[in-house]
Amino acid sequence: MNEGIIEGFNRAQITDETLVKMRESSARDVDNLPIIRENSAALYRFLITALKPLCALETGTCRGYSAILAAKTAASYTDSFKCYTVELDSVNAQEAIKNIAAEGLTEHIKVIHGDAAEVLASLSGQFDIIFLDSSKSHYSEMLPDVKRLLRRGGVLIADDIAYYGKTEAGEVPHKHRTIVNSLRAFIRQISEDEDFTAVIDTMDDGMLLAVKN
Ligand SMILES: C[S@@+](CC[C@H](N)C(=O)[O-])C[C@H]1O[C@@H](n2cnc3c(N)ncnc32)[C@H](O)[C@@H]1O
Repeated sequence: MNEGIIEGFNRAQITDETLVKMRESSARDVDNLPIIRENSAALYRFLITALKPLCALETGTCRGYSAILAAKTAASYTDSFKCYTVELDSVNAQEAIKNIAAEGLTEHIKVIHGDAAEVLASLSGQFDIIFLDSSKSHYSEMLPDVKRLLRRGGVLIADDIAYYGKTEAGEVPHKHRTIVNSLRAFIRQISEDEDFTAVIDTMDDGMLLAVKN
């Protein structure tokens, strides 16, 4: 593998055997599953370690990689970490439940099968961290519920907001317009909201981090 010193550094952050295997089997030329990219996964792991959340909410479970990463990382500081993760696709939800059980993490990760926007609207309580990684065209409409569910001092993380660079600027082909316009609206909403202090990491496909003031 021809990787640079930074990519090599980030890759070396996640050595857990299960997670390495999950990444290998999700690769484009194997199962083609869109799990969190390596640099963003390293950043997510860093944030969990630094912020020490006890209660996390995730949209977009896929097969459970990022939820398992969060729970395994949290095990270094607590026995009572909880991650609620929402997945629309029933096969993904079932496979994630199996993967989570195989790691003995069923008590820590609850997979909710359903549409993220509908589930978030029905939830109450306060989360320390909210990770948006489901359909990018819904981030903007979910923001009011995300803000309601995030505690003050809590951190919102939204993955893939650059959408292969298309969010940045300029005209967008018709077939990508809904997603890109929605992502642009989401970024604008966050940047204009005085309740958030935010930054966008651009190492992979754009990860927006926002703390609720
Ligand atoms: C990028 S993948 C999630 C990857 C996962 N977070 C990880 O890193 O292991 C996006 C997932 O969101 C799911 N999804 C798409 N639209 C959704 C929706 N409206 N509600 C919940 N999940 C959705 C897809 O089925 C897919 O599994």
